[in-house]
Amino acid sequence: MKITSAEFVMSNSDVAKCPKNKLPEYAFIGRSNVGKSSLINMLMQRKSLAKTSGRPGKTQLINHFLINKNWYLVDLPGYGYARVSKSSKKTFQKFITNYFEKRQQLVLGFVLIDCRHEPQPIDLEFMEWMGQSQIPFSIIFTKADKLKPNALTRNLEVYTQKMLETWEEMPQYFVTSSSNGDGRDELLGYINQINSDLTAL
Ligand code: GTP
Ligand code: MG
Repeated sequence: MKITSAEFVMSNSDVAKCPKNKLPEYAFIGRSNVGKSSLINMLMQRKSLAKTSGRPGKTQLINHFLINKNWYLVDLPGYGYARVSKSSKKTFQKFITNYFEKRQQLVLGFVLIDCRHEPQPIDLEFMEWMGQSQIPFSIIFTKADKLKPNALTRNLEVYTQKMLETWEEMPQYFVTSSSNGDGRDELLGYINQINSDLTAL
């Protein structure tokens, strides 16, 4: 898919105030610092369309970006931000769960996972919650530039095995790097295909 335009539309914490039109949208979710905002910039080939930071907790609101004037990318705050108190650490911010439960225009959520780490309970729990709530999702492994090919392959195998303990099959997944653009064509092609299928309905 060729990107001809990418515009920031609005930020808010209330799903009821998100754009009212029916354009399909795709949301990026995952732990703080996993690279959600960086991936939006990489896909759009823009340095600072979405705000990024080395410190977790940068994105605090639901951010809508209108792409090619006909679909939205949504940047969400991370979950599992370490600075919140221990008791509420695993509680996903209410407005994030509200967004996923109520947003009818949402076509698919992308759950971002740092490819360097072993499967983390909070990500596994979030995906289980998505499954129980019947919200379709795919996985994006981020920061692939930080691992050597063998280590990457090994980690993907470990993750797949872990997922198969709970899921019948490994969800569709992508491997990306916002530093070198890996995975860009695959991810945009996937979104493009879904958008075309929706138009054909
Ligand atoms: P929150 O908004 O806090 O939830 O974080 P986020 O998931 O949006 O992460 P963000 O895109 O702000 O990136 C966090 C840090 O990781 C920044 O320092 C990025 O430069 C770095 N980063 C993100 N993606 C990549 C990547 O693919 N490769 C490398 N090497 N660094 C990355
Ligand atoms: Mg962010």
